[in-house]
Amino acid sequence: MSPRKAISLSRNESPHGPLPGIVAAIAATGQDANRYPDLACVELTRALARRHGVAPDRVIVGAGSCALLHALFQVIAGPGASAVYAWRSFEYYPVLANHTGVRSELVPLVDGAHNLTAMADRITDATRLVLVCNPNNPTGTLIDRDELRVFVDRVPSACLVALDEAYFEYVDGSSGTGGLELCDSYPNLVVLRTFSKAYGLANLRVGYLIGSADIVTSLRDLCLPYAVSGVAQRAALAALDLEDALLTRVKETIAERTRVRAALMAEGWEVLDSQGNFVWLSLGEDAIPFCEYCARAGIELRVFTGEGVRVSIGSESDNDAFLTAAHEWSVRNAAATIIGATGRVAGRQEW
Ligand SMILES: Cc1ncc(COP(=O)(O)O)c(C=O)c1O
Repeated sequence: MSPRKAISLSRNESPHGPLPGIVAAIAATGQDANRYPDLACVELTRALARRHGVAPDRVIVGAGSCALLHALFQVIAGPGASAVYAWRSFEYYPVLANHTGVRSELVPLVDGAHNLTAMADRITDATRLVLVCNPNNPTGTLIDRDELRVFVDRVPSACLVALDEAYFEYVDGSSGTGGLELCDSYPNLVVLRTFSKAYGLANLRVGYLIGSADIVTSLRDLCLPYAVSGVAQRAALAALDLEDALLTRVKETIAERTRVRAALMAEGWEVLDSQGNFVWLSLGEDAIPFCEYCARAGIELRVFTGEGVRVSIGSESDNDAFLTAAHEWSVRNAAATIIGATGRVAGRQEW
């Protein structure tokens, strides 16, 4: 018998496989595997520009938003350049900073949320980039659009603000983040989005950035040629055509996020109000033992040692399996505490 496949709730992926229309687009592109893809992603760039009501010269497509983030770091890199961002946030920010020789200025979150005042205070003449992950990965907190505007107003025009909106589609309600609107008024602000999450194309590597035409032009010079495959371009175009069906699935994930959070809180867990496709458990030293416990139950979570655990929202049955494991962990922990208090077992229990 083959071993049971682990339930993956560690990578903030969509639990939904591609819709038939997207599978068909992928299969059709397979016929052209001997041909190079469109170098400038012209059709997809135009479709995205139409979708967001901006000129095509303000849009650049990349091999995932990670590739575009990398290009942003390269654009600003130079002697003494630094980037300011909240911490904890997306774990690749420091990796990309290291790759490009940019110094990271980390500004601690407060209760899981960006401290924008402290971030603005941290900007110096050497700061070339400010990254704002909204909603924040891994805590899921969202910055209010007014708060965002006040912050961007404080950032000097020589410093680029990158709003990483990888989880934008999972924000509750229609108000969104206001990032794209700000982009029209502030030439030093760019917005990054991805097809990896809500559009379910993580494996194909396609994301995009919207900003001023000048910034987009300088990024084009840095992105590797032919990095976005034809398969990714066609699949993203098909996903845009099927957006309504995909966003219905996103609503299901939002409903599951609400259900998972409520179930955890009913059992006494502290869970922040997440606006991503994940929830954050601030477990401190319990983060590793809890993750190990869940791993033994066949569930993979993302651990941040000594800080917490990020749990991606999966299918209903995968979420149920996680809730069962979390419930069992609570029960065992409560029992261990009682036994410890009566002096029958010394020290903490390892499960
Ligand atoms: C905040 C954030 N930004 C960017 C990315 C990268 O997305 P992509 O798959 O488009 O490179 C991720 C992926 O997890 C993310 O969490």
